[in-house]
Amino acid sequence: MRVTRVSLRPRNRVLGEPDSWEQKNLLDFERRLAKGEKIETFEVSQVVNEPTGRYYRYLKAIPMGQPCLACHGPVAGIPEGVKAQLASDYPHDRAVNFQLGQVRGAVSVKKSID
Ligand code: HEC
Repeated sequence: MRVTRVSLRPRNRVLGEPDSWEQKNLLDFERRLAKGEKIETFEVSQVVNEPTGRYYRYLKAIPMGQPCLACHGPVAGIPEGVKAQLASDYPHDRAVNFQLGQVRGAVSVKKSID
């Protein structure tokens, strides 16, 4: 079983980049949030046929909370030391400028069921 975190704007390109199923559902989470639905209810599970076999897939939204702002919030509010560390460790960082309550990403589970 693969358990990971993904995001439409990942910090870690290697671990955080969503595949097409994850992208589609993350976009759906954002559409539902824009319509005023509660982020706590955003989860989806599905059996999906892929070229390499059948998989159980699960995705649950991770909301942006107050403590997350220090590292994922508007750049102006991120402490200088954190900014410098992020710039050196994650030169392609896209995971800043999130607002409180937005979809930061999702927990993703993928399990082969063949
Ligand atoms: C102290 C800084 C810090 C704080 C606070 C923080 N994060 Fe992160 N976050 C990181 C770093 C660094 C990574 C990249 C980790 C890695 O290399 O896999 C990351 C990665 C993630 C990822 C994985 C996808 C990606 O972008 O690579 C998610 C989802 C995430 N954070 C959500 C949150 C949420 C939600 C909170 C608040 C509850 C939070 N983070 C608070 C630093 C932080």
